Amino acid sequence: MKAFHRVALALALALAATAVSAQTSFRRPADAVHYRRAALLVMAHHTADLGAMLRGATAFDPARARLDAQVIHTLARLPWPAFGPGTDVAGTQARPSVWTEHPRFLRDAERLQQATPQLVAAAQRGNIDALRAAFFRTVKTCKACHDSFRR
Ligand code: HEC
Repeated sequence: MKAFHRVALALALALAATAVSAQTSFRRPADAVHYRRAALLVMAHHTADLGAMLRGATAFDPARARLDAQVIHTLARLPWPAFGPGTDVAGTQARPSVWTEHPRFLRDAERLQQATPQLVAAAQRGNIDALRAAFFRTVKTCKACHDSFRR
């Protein structure tokens, strides 16, 4: 292999490694807690905003509903890799069951991620009944996980 190719390969591998670790590893356990709580907080803010519009507590704004659905859909993938081993530390509201029953926890996370594409699709169509149904299915998955895994 020519020297240039070896350097290019080494660079490509280093970049790939960075891309993976950016999502799944944190310098300190407290950073993982901060990251996942921040992601959950932002996701919850947009869930509450959409919920208020669907209840009629605030005026329905289709563009805002589309943004809310998209944010929920995107953020629904983020918190789970931050619940790695060794991150059951001070400052978390997660129950120890997150770690002792991790496969079940990840299945609950998967249920949320299976619900959000329909939320996005209904928001895109601007169909309030479909959106309300998809929203109800989505928040049921939040509650199901909290009942088992959050203090
Ligand atoms: C797979 C399980 C799971 C699902 C699904 C889930 N959560 Fe949570 N949630 C947790 C856990 C565990 C915590 C505690 C995290 C921590 O403190 O480390 C949490 C924390 C939170 C918090 C507190 C954030 C903070 O300020 O610390 C909010 C708000 C929240 N979730 C809202 C939601 C909403 C809204 C949904 C659905 C759209 C949702 N969650 C879906 C497990 C889940």
